[in-house]
Formats: sequence, C-alpha cells, structure tokens
Amino acid sequence: MIDEHTEDLGRASGAHGEVLLRRRTTADGEAHLELVVDGVFAMDDVDTSTERRLAAEALRRCAGDALRVLVGGLGLGWTAAAALADPRVAAVDVVELQPALVGWAARGLLPSLAGLSDRRLRLRVGDVADALRSGPDGWDAVLLDVDNGPGFLVHRSNAALYRRSGLATALAALRPGGVLAIWSSGPAPELLAALAGLAGSADAEQVLLPVERDGRRLDYAVVLARRAA
Ligand SMILES: C[S@@+](CC[C@H](N)C(=O)[O-])C[C@H]1O[C@@H](n2cnc3c(N)ncnc32)[C@H](O)[C@@H]1O
Repeated sequence: MIDEHTEDLGRASGAHGEVLLRRRTTADGEAHLELVVDGVFAMDDVDTSTERRLAAEALRRCAGDALRVLVGGLGLGWTAAAALADPRVAAVDVVELQPALVGWAARGLLPSLAGLSDRRLRLRVGDVADALRSGPDGWDAVLLDVDNGPGFLVHRSNAALYRRSGLATALAALRPGGVLAIWSSGPAPELLAALAGLAGSADAEQVLLPVERDGRRLDYAVVLARRAA
C-alpha cells in the first residue's frame, strides 16, 4: 500500500482565473487526472461516461456523413474524443477558455486525445459564446460542457449561455436538422423548457445519466434540441 497523493502536472493563472491539472494516485495505486478551476474541482477521469454520452447522444440524432461538430469546453478531452470516435465525423472544433489547458493538450498531457494526432481535431482558445455568435455556422452538432450546468456555475459569465438568448444563438449556429446538446450536473427541467419554447427548436428532450460514485448515486443529464428543418 502507498499513501494517496497528488502531483501537479500543470498550473496557470490568467484572465479567467487559475487552472490546475493534477494526477491523483490512490492508496491502491490507481492514477486519475483531475482538473481544478479557481480552486473548485471541475472534473476527473474516474468515470467519463457522461462526458462521452454528451457526444454520442447528439451524434446518434444526426443524419448523414461528413459531420461538423463544435465542442464548447475541452476539459480532459473526453467529449471531443467521443466525437472523433464516430467515423461519420469530419471535423471537431473545440473552443476552450483556458489557454494553458490547450497547451497541455498539445503536450500530450490528456490521454483521451492521444497526442492530438487526429487531423479532424482543431483546438482553439476562446469563449464558446463568441464562437457561436461569430460563426462560421452550420454545425451538425454543438456540444456544450463549459460548466456544471445551469444550476451550479463555476464561471458566472457562463450564465448567459444557458438563458433563452444564449440558447437561441447556439441553435442558430446549427444547420437545419442539427443538434444542440448540453451537459448538466443534474436534471435541468428549466433548461429543457427554455429549449422547448424557443422558436425554431424541435424535439427537445432530456436524457438522465445516473452514475454511481463513492457509493452515491449522481443524476447527471444531457439536454438536447434540434434546429427545426
Ligand atoms: C467540465 S469541463 C469539460 C469536460 C469535457 N466535456 C470533457 O469531456 O473532458 C469544462 C471546460 O470548459 C471550459 N470553459 C468554461 N467556460 C468556457 C467558455 N465560456 N468557453 C469555452 N470553454 C469554457 C473550462 O475551462 C473547462 O475546461
């Protein structure tokens, strides 16, 4: 047995606060990556099933080939990796607020992206809200996991993304028939109702994703809507 310990792999401060990437090794020798933003635990890779489901649920609702996907929030890269795992996907653009995280990905510190060798992947530093406003649009899928969901924000500035005007902008960035999917750390009935009530939205629904963690059940969710054709 060894003592549980953490090792910092990268730490940086900038306009959007501090970001820390660290490896936690448990007493039985299991190692996991953790992302901490402004001192608040953002995520780890103990169970990345819901981050991957965000991509899978959106893509299985998308018809056709040569799909173009926008991912808001790189995190540990699992949503982007799941999008790349779909052979119908031709391009995955990831927009990430923290420059340091994009740099660590480029240095191969995120195993999910296996050294960024996939030519369909493009990582950009920026605010996904700006990317959605400025285009180019016509995405087949927009996948948003920039925060814990509407109920528990790490960045207050992200609140606008989950309001009607932010949701309308995200929907407008899709091609007709394209799918918007939003990860949430809990059931999000208000987000679902807002999406369902938007002009030009169709098929709004919520997929509940229960996960067992440390003996506790967590009800994560993905909320989806399609831009009406
Ligand atoms: C919970 S993580 C995303 C996890 C990711 N789905 C994965 O599979 O690992 C949230 C990420 O969004 C980034 N972020 C927060 N606000 C953002 C914004 N407005 N635009 C782009 N990225 C943002 C954070 O820096 C963080 O890397």
